[in-house]
Amino acid sequence: MFMLHRSQPARCHVTTMKLDNCINIDDLRTLARQRLPAPMFHYLDGGADDEWTLRRNSDAFDDYQLLPSQLSDISNIDLGTPLLGTRLGWPVLLAPTGMSRLFHEDAEYAVVRAAAKFDTLYSLSTVATARLEDIARETPGPKMFQVYIFKDRGLTTEFVERCKAAGYGAMCLTVDTPMAGNRERDKRTGMIMPPRFTLRSGISFMTHPRWSLKALLHGDFELKNVAHRVPASNTPMFLFDFINGQFDRSLTWKDAEWLAGLWGAGFVIKGVQSAGDAQRALDAGAAAIMISNHGGRQLDGAPAPVDCIAPIRDRVGDRLQLIVDGGIRRGTHVLKALAMGADACSIGRAYLYGLAAGGQPGVEKALSILRDEIHLGMALLGTPTIDGITRDHVIHRPRPASR
Ligand code: FNR
Repeated sequence: MFMLHRSQPARCHVTTMKLDNCINIDDLRTLARQRLPAPMFHYLDGGADDEWTLRRNSDAFDDYQLLPSQLSDISNIDLGTPLLGTRLGWPVLLAPTGMSRLFHEDAEYAVVRAAAKFDTLYSLSTVATARLEDIARETPGPKMFQVYIFKDRGLTTEFVERCKAAGYGAMCLTVDTPMAGNRERDKRTGMIMPPRFTLRSGISFMTHPRWSLKALLHGDFELKNVAHRVPASNTPMFLFDFINGQFDRSLTWKDAEWLAGLWGAGFVIKGVQSAGDAQRALDAGAAAIMISNHGGRQLDGAPAPVDCIAPIRDRVGDRLQLIVDGGIRRGTHVLKALAMGADACSIGRAYLYGLAAGGQPGVEKALSILRDEIHLGMALLGTPTIDGITRDHVIHRPRPASR
């Protein structure tokens, strides 16, 4: 049966998806859904409140039309992009996502290996299930460590020292999570850390024996970079209780400036959405910002990142590099963001669907799908280089936003 859905690709409906059959990111999402128990899938897939921002992140790309420059000699297409003092093989990096161990037993290791193979940058989250030193040893490729500032400030200074010693080239501070967003799917599925068989989640674990067996055998769900300083709870807890109990809510731009000074070159602020905050990030000493609403997981009602690019670029000019994430599921989404003024894009769920679908080969599948789509898109847009993609290649025609 052929199903067509707005903002969704046309695809043949197959009852059991395999990695080899996946031809786009939506297929990987379908396979991830088959592979994961409900609490894990919905933790990965879901957003905050009514998920308006989650939907809008992808839907907003439909408001932008790509305008080709024909007969442009595309016999040599170069996807290479300078970012944060290094050169990426293509303009997509991997956003920080916590607790990858929930999705596959190879966790963050599978993702950093795939990133290195695909010549791009991997961002490791503060709340990763792998130690930052162990991840650094996996590959010499470019890496960024993402910081959440805990009430225990000693942890932040420790991150800076450990990341410098381990050879991380960049550090990013996430500023959109003073408290956890209201993720109702997690409340409904009983998504607790570490995962436990409960009345609510038990059936889902039983119907996903492959995941459950591996969780039992390799079930090391510790937050490896913070566990030694954050007292372990005796009972499993909801992630939002952990965040609300541990993260420092008193942060201001002074703290961003303090961390930028401590880190030095290659400091990034993640979660900026307005031109005013972009200016403040620049003043605080950032080299780049990530225009992001945390993939629709924090403030529901926040605008789609693609809609925030132009005002920010117009305010800061070339003084900040702009990385954009949220809702990117197609190579053409990346082209639209670049045309509006982004230097690069980052992806979260797109690679996590791949991780859940098939570990490292699944992440590689996600990356190869997106890279091929960008390559083809550049050929059809008539832009053989990334810096040749400009606002002349995009028309912005907003439609009334749906609820
Ligand atoms: C995230 N994100 C995130 N961001 C961050 O700064 N630190 C983190 O630990 C996490 N953890 C996390 C877990 C999961 C499961 C998801 C889906 C996302 C947000 C992430 O970095 C990025 O901003 C979004 O994922 C981008 O949106 P898309 O690409 O997922 O639509």
